[in-house]
Amino acid sequence: MARVADSSDRTVVVAVVGSPRAAGNTSYLVDVALDELARRGLAVEKIMLSEHRVLPCEGHDECEDLAACPLDDDAGPVLERMYGADGLILATPVYYENISGPMKVFIDRSCFNNYHEIWLRARCVGLIAVAESTGLDETIDGLRRFVALASRAKVKPLSATGLAYREGDAAGNATLVAAVRAMARAMAAELRGESAGA
Ligand SMILES: Cc1cc2nc3c(=O)[nH]c(=O)nc-3n(C[C@H](O)[C@H](O)[C@H](O)COP(=O)(O)O)c2cc1C
Repeated sequence: MARVADSSDRTVVVAVVGSPRAAGNTSYLVDVALDELARRGLAVEKIMLSEHRVLPCEGHDECEDLAACPLDDDAGPVLERMYGADGLILATPVYYENISGPMKVFIDRSCFNNYHEIWLRARCVGLIAVAESTGLDETIDGLRRFVALASRAKVKPLSATGLAYREGDAAGNATLVAAVRAMARAMAAELRGESAGA
């Protein structure tokens, strides 16, 4: 985990990044968002899925009867951080006009939580997707559907999307960076109980 929240009782925002590229566009944009949130007093934590061992769900029919997921990897602790966060950012590059493989594999592993009625605690969710040219809407829709299935409360996710291809491209896309900053500011306002734009 690249950045870890402090142990105070500050509101915590966890960002889960589904790109294998540590210095890629998605990771850069998440840093931009977390910087905005941290500057507004929120504790932030960035989780690069590529730094963790997350095995694919094996689809055990008896999942709901198991006391714990039998797969022995890092998914449990990462899910715990994600499900316990006050605010959540899910960020993925577009792969074949959809969520990246690492993000999808991770999302599938939350199935145990679903069967055991463990729901996302986040009262505010931000979604980030980056593509070379196509599939942004489909990808955001996939993330939205996950959030809807994993939440009890009616959370209406915010989103920021845009185009970037090679590593470093996102930093040069001023419109995309501005959209991510605006989304993070709106999340901070919501989490701090302020009106947007405050
Ligand atoms: C396996 C793979 C599939 C991709 N599929 C798409 C696609 O369907 N549409 C698109 O516009 N870009 C596609 N891309 C390009 C990435 O979305 C783009 O390079 C993005 O900026 C990568 O983000 P990252 O730097 O955070 O990894 C694909 C890239 C890879 C590696």
